[in-house]
Amino acid sequence: MKTINDSDLILGIESSCDETSAAVVRRGEEVLSNVVHSQIDVHAEWGGVVPELASRHHAEQIDLIIGLALERAGITIKDIDAVAVTYGPGLIGALLVGLAAAKSIALTRGIPLVGVDHIEAHIHSVELTHGPLEYPALSLVVSGGHTSLFYQRERFEYELIARTRDDAAGEAYDKVAKLLGLGYPGGPVIDRLAGLGDPKRYHFSPVRMSDGSADFSFSGLKTAVLNVTRAEPELLERKVKPEEDEDLLDLLAAFQTAVIDEIRRRIERIIKERDVRSVGISGGVAHNKGLRAAMGKLSEKRGLPILFPDGGYTADNAGMIAALGWHVLQLRGPAPLSLNAVPNLKLAEDNEAKRHPRSG
Ligand code: KG4
Ligand code: ZN
Repeated sequence: MKTINDSDLILGIESSCDETSAAVVRRGEEVLSNVVHSQIDVHAEWGGVVPELASRHHAEQIDLIIGLALERAGITIKDIDAVAVTYGPGLIGALLVGLAAAKSIALTRGIPLVGVDHIEAHIHSVELTHGPLEYPALSLVVSGGHTSLFYQRERFEYELIARTRDDAAGEAYDKVAKLLGLGYPGGPVIDRLAGLGDPKRYHFSPVRMSDGSADFSFSGLKTAVLNVTRAEPELLERKVKPEEDEDLLDLLAAFQTAVIDEIRRRIERIIKERDVRSVGISGGVAHNKGLRAAMGKLSEKRGLPILFPDGGYTADNAGMIAALGWHVLQLRGPAPLSLNAVPNLKLAEDNEAKRHPRSG
């Protein structure tokens, strides 16, 4: 059995949702390969991820993707010192495919298995791109499944200060795109079209939590968009290309502005309330051009860095799993081979009381 100190080259495996991915990363920093196979085509016709199709597709692809990651890194499986795998949160069947592959490699090669929390890996993707943040830091994970804000007094320490009460931000994008017949996933197409519209024509009121918490909510916004389409049903008819439909462009611009405002207000509030030296934003929605521009302005206004991961580490990828895996191995040690999938794994959700100061 190799020892932890040997663990230079980590093979990372990610299969929690609709990306099958494998990567090789040296000492948590140097990415030798990061292969991502997206299943978007498989799920597009259903307008969202179909769990059974996702697991089946992962099972078909995983060996091939791991082989490609090793080949692109210019190594063989014998060179790998440890294998890191996402064990939650995510879809149970999808997670089990990655776990089975990782366990069989760890067992047959006699190398450590490392269990990685997918959300912690998204947070870490910012450091994989920019190096260690300045702490205390604020980290927002904003994706199709999650919208959570963490306060980090120190590196690898998390306090959950806000999360969504209903839909995740990316889910709101996907549902609005589905309603308007713009396909799946909704984020990239709405982001592109929103930039062409006038955000002032429609107005969506900001959400405020009655208990004073900084929690997010996006389902009301989705309903507000639905109500606009009920009042103006022609928004659902595609007589011209979406790019040429001014009403549609204005509606999307207002929707995107409302999502970004919701995020900006939460982040600015925490920056004012607490000692925050830097902010990291990760997950699929961190691709959003409008969000990046708004955060650039906020960064200037508040005089602190607001950082995003590089494109390749923004959405689901195994590079971030292998990179964080190296740190997890040093800090927390290897996982037993009995490691199971935890679909509802929740990073730092033991501090519920702190999130509801007025009720607690
Ligand atoms: O991180 P990710 O790949 O998977 C999850 O863990 O959910 O995020 C996918 C989500 C989808 O909801 C997609 O619509 C959204 O990220 N997304 C975007 C953009 N690109 C992807 N949302 C807004 N603007 C974008 N440019
Ligand atoms: Zn993700």
